[in-house]
Amino acid sequence: MVIVCESKTGFTMKYANMLSQKTGLKVFPTKELDKVGSDEEVIFFGWMKAGMIQGLKKMKKHNVIAICATGTARNAEPDDETVMARNNIKDIPFFYMRGGCLPLKQMKGMDKFLMSLFVKMLKSKKDKDEELIEAISNIENGFDGVKEENLAPLLKWLSER
Ligand SMILES: Cc1cc2nc3c(=O)[nH]c(=O)nc-3n(C[C@H](O)[C@H](O)[C@H](O)COP(=O)(O)O)c2cc1C
Repeated sequence: MVIVCESKTGFTMKYANMLSQKTGLKVFPTKELDKVGSDEEVIFFGWMKAGMIQGLKKMKKHNVIAICATGTARNAEPDDETVMARNNIKDIPFFYMRGGCLPLKQMKGMDKFLMSLFVKMLKSKKDKDEELIEAISNIENGFDGVKEENLAPLLKWLSER
């Protein structure tokens, strides 16, 4: 069994490396996917962009046994089932873990453009609850939501297999 990870700014890779330290499994970034055999069991990690788990499409010919995705929200948005349906995840366990993001000022190109639009949309909402205010601040100022405890459901599932 190995870990394969697609990470752009490093937050998802932190989880992959944390899991590697806890289990001894080797981590391969998706750009080294040619080193992973098609029969090898894979725990896949990818970051979410507009609801889509990045890198997952590259895994079609591999033996993925669990899918983990990171995003800025506290929980998968709008919910696990919708994310699973959108990403065509069937009969495989899915684990959402909170990732993190760079401050908007440090983002570049299309990512910066899309996140600027997103934050503008959030700011335009009339009734801002505590979660929404946190979401706006996290995107504008950056944050790191990677925590060891977020790996617990995945570790539990692995230990019960
Ligand atoms: C353009 C863009 C779109 C994003 N879309 C989503 C999203 O739909 N849902 C979500 O939870 N997070 C979204 N995020 C946040 C990233 O998934 C999150 O910051 C992730 O942890 C980054 O992982 P990385 O550091 O491994 O690249 C988006 C980020 C960017 C830059």
